[in-house]
Amino acid sequence: MKDAAPATAPETFYLKDYKPFGFEVETVELTFKLAPNSTRVLSKIRFSPQDNAADPRFFLHGEALKLISAKIDGAPVTPELIAGGLICDTPGTPFTWEAEVEIAPAANTALEGLYMSSGMYCTQCEAEGFRKITYYPDRPDVMSTFSVRIEGDETVLLSNGNPAGSGEGWAEWHDPWPKPAYLFALVAGDLVNHPDHFTTRSGKDVELNIWVRPGDEGKCAFGMEALKKSMKWDEDVYGREYDLDIFNIVAVDDFNMGAMENKGLNIFNSSCVLASPETSTDANFERIEAIIAHEYFHNWTGNRITCRDWFQLCLKEGLTVFRDAQFTADMRSEPVKRIEDVIALRARQFPEDNGPLAHPPRPEQFQEINNFYTATVYEKGAEVIGMLKRLVGDDNYDKALDLYFDRHDGQACTIEDWLRVFEDATGRDLSQFKLWYSQAGTPRVKVSEDYADGSYTLTFEQSTPPTPGQPDKAPRVIPLAVGLLAANGDELRATEVLELIEAKQSFTFDGLASKPVPSILREFSAPVILERETTNAERAFLLAHDTDPFNRWEAGNALATETRVTMVTEGAAPDGAYLDALEKLVRDDTLDPAFRALVLSPPSQSEIAQTLHDRGVTPDPQKIYDAAETFAQTLAQQLETSLPRLYAATTVDGPYQPDANGAGLRALNGRILSLLTRLDGGEQAARQYQAADNMTQQYAALAALMKAENGERQSQAFFDQWQNDRLVMDKWFALQVACAAPDAAAKVATDLTRHTLFDMKNPNRFRAVMGALAGNHAGFHHASGAGYQLLAENLIALDSLNPQTTARMCAAFQTWKRYDSARQASIRVELERILATEGLSRDTHEMVSRILQG
Ligand code: BES
Ligand code: ZN
Repeated sequence: MKDAAPATAPETFYLKDYKPFGFEVETVELTFKLAPNSTRVLSKIRFSPQDNAADPRFFLHGEALKLISAKIDGAPVTPELIAGGLICDTPGTPFTWEAEVEIAPAANTALEGLYMSSGMYCTQCEAEGFRKITYYPDRPDVMSTFSVRIEGDETVLLSNGNPAGSGEGWAEWHDPWPKPAYLFALVAGDLVNHPDHFTTRSGKDVELNIWVRPGDEGKCAFGMEALKKSMKWDEDVYGREYDLDIFNIVAVDDFNMGAMENKGLNIFNSSCVLASPETSTDANFERIEAIIAHEYFHNWTGNRITCRDWFQLCLKEGLTVFRDAQFTADMRSEPVKRIEDVIALRARQFPEDNGPLAHPPRPEQFQEINNFYTATVYEKGAEVIGMLKRLVGDDNYDKALDLYFDRHDGQACTIEDWLRVFEDATGRDLSQFKLWYSQAGTPRVKVSEDYADGSYTLTFEQSTPPTPGQPDKAPRVIPLAVGLLAANGDELRATEVLELIEAKQSFTFDGLASKPVPSILREFSAPVILERETTNAERAFLLAHDTDPFNRWEAGNALATETRVTMVTEGAAPDGAYLDALEKLVRDDTLDPAFRALVLSPPSQSEIAQTLHDRGVTPDPQKIYDAAETFAQTLAQQLETSLPRLYAATTVDGPYQPDANGAGLRALNGRILSLLTRLDGGEQAARQYQAADNMTQQYAALAALMKAENGERQSQAFFDQWQNDRLVMDKWFALQVACAAPDAAAKVATDLTRHTLFDMKNPNRFRAVMGALAGNHAGFHHASGAGYQLLAENLIALDSLNPQTTARMCAAFQTWKRYDSARQASIRVELERILATEGLSRDTHEMVSRILQG
């Protein structure tokens, strides 16, 4: 008989408890003897005690390892094995530690440490996975050079650094750059490569490879071009060159995240590197280009300069997201990238920052660090750097970054180190600015205005609602980019950055002949919520005339939100002035098609729910859904006569190219097709589906048809065509759920979990179904509670296999307090059911407890 295990509270780690490791690791030598169920890992590590090491014993992390033998300076030792590692006496002088352990990569479904995916061995060590490979001080401030020997039958045996010899059944690698263990990687498999090379600006030739399973070699060319562009861009813009003879990228099918920046051996979720016109959409191409850049850029921001501890995660992630956004803006369109990022920030980070999971970009405590790879650490972390750059100016930013690379190369750093380079480079005091790193919550900025005698005054009041553990907030430094427009649309004042530092503060503009129209928070200069009483007429004016493209889009977005809110709360019809404005915009050929597509994209239903909640109205997901449908139908009717012409005018001729211009046109064309399908019953979409030679158009046609009569037949045809392509099948699984009507979503998702191609061990497939369920707002929140129940059941089932992916998906419940008491009660039941699961992982336990408590 089994006793119910008492839910022991997992250990909490605190930033304030940081202590350096007592030993320096000089060198690491690893030998891997690969076997699926019994891989042997031999380690030989040179340790030397630091002056301040009072304790001659040392602690090494280790998890799920079978210790075969251990020696110090050649003599066998018997360490004390404890939970999470071992303790051993040491000589008190420099010594060599040797250990042999056994692990079972084939049984590793958590996809952390050494595991197998589609027959190949691969690793994922960030954040704390290396301890599942061997005993080691698995913390980012312990840096060392690694030499690796791999013995295995696979044709390709890879690790970090430069090749150091190979023969039949073995290969050796040496990485000359000291690194923390989380950047260690190993890959072994019968892989094929897409080779190329790059000459750095100092003339060094670097061998480049993308390694894939046989059959995927035709999907590497785009990723390779993205890599070369990234290498060039980092030289041109940040002065950063690559520092090894070889750079390898490997695509794996089973991966918890998108990709990982292991030194010289990046490992990618195959969905984030493999691309072909027939199987990938424009959005896939854009994401692949960005993520290849992101992981490559980590070579300097993350690898050469790493984090002292995991509380400093945004030091590398926020900065690298900021850098990859700059790259995408340079490669594609700056305003379009900015609008896309703000949409994503509001969809993912704002709910986090305003709910039970709120935490600062630099958290001060955690139970499981994997739960803190969040939109706040990443996206808000990047926003904070954007504000810093705006405050100090572009030249000072460059100076500060040069100083950062100069001063901290080879070190494991903190946010304090980061801010100090800005203070030293600019002479600016950043102590108030630092609050952005320590305070959670999205600031509200209330604006009021006053005009008299040619003087125009803007008054701003900032406040941040309490967040878990942080009831009181101090005023922050908020850079507000503001411009002023005349009634005829002329720009009266070009963009100027106002620095809001007080709780309440006014700024006056003199010499204005009449009351201007302000354009505030241009380019979304700070991650705040702007609260300003204004009229739809003024919003329509800005949508038509603002000289800042971001704020032009923002005005349209505000109009869309207002229209939707009045439809939901008052049963009103869609606002006619807004429909007219949209019509004018769609037809304006002088505007970038990508921008027009964004203006035509409605705010998400989840965002409308949040807006209603913020205004004290309990959101009804079904009503929000109905309003979205009515709005789209009305817009389609309004545009009826021009839709066929618009559709034709935005159809891209010639062979498919995944460039930004083509993608923008296709995005607009797709929006128009979905409206057209509401009127023609899917005639045009069916034609497009048949004629499509690329996934973007095929998928757009299928998505439009899913709601029309022939949706099911078309979906079956799509399945028949693509059932052997995993990545396309993920799209198919997700689309079924995303397009399901509110009362059908849970049923559709349930059936898909019973499909022969459903495999919960594959994170991409699990996310395709469960992520789409959580993203189908009215379906997930259907009053029956079936959506909540289905997600909970699947999370419980996945938890024992893959805690990381389970825990991340719990975030679907974070917005639960927005909804009515019946829905809250249903969600509470599910959350408590998850929490009561025997043997629940620390990851999921932490997430669910925080959601329940918040
Ligand atoms: N270092 C991360 C990958 C990672 C995160 C590994 C958490 C283990 C745990 C990598 O650099 C990253 O940030 N990847 C992102 C994509 C990126 C474009 C923001 C990802 O995987 O989603
Ligand atoms: Zn990253």
